[in-house]
Amino acid sequence: TEIAARTAAVISEMKDLEGPLLPILHGVQEEFGYVPQESLLVIADALNLSRAEVHGVATFYHDYRKQPAGRHVLKLCQAEACQSMGSDAVAAKVKQALGIGFHETARDNSVTLEPVYCLGLCACAPSAMLDGQVIGRLDDEAIDEIVAEVRR
Ligand code: FES
Repeated sequence: TEIAARTAAVISEMKDLEGPLLPILHGVQEEFGYVPQESLLVIADALNLSRAEVHGVATFYHDYRKQPAGRHVLKLCQAEACQSMGSDAVAAKVKQALGIGFHETARDNSVTLEPVYCLGLCACAPSAMLDGQVIGRLDDEAIDEIVAEVRR
């Protein structure tokens, strides 16, 4: 299949690295925007690992998605500095506004919500990242703007 072929291409680029599993999973996610179930089988075969091992690693690292993401990807920082500046309340607001929880995608496919652990923007906590752009000082106004943006 096409997924198997593209996965094999990623593997052949990375399989000589030391500890190739994580870089390969990362490469596969870059390639597809998520890690397809079928890719896990191809990876397991190529690295001589059991499916359970590969699946375990892919599930352990929340960075790997099991399904394609929505058109936007919103990551909310949940690490310590942001916690102390109210990231829990921010997350609650955003979840309610979008009607989804972490690791979920809105039904209209507009946005996927994910937690992230420090964006290096602690001085401007609480922080988020929308489609790769960092946003600091998430107050109510900033949250409203983000919600409007992903709905557009
Ligand atoms: Fe949130 Fe560092 S803890 S940006």
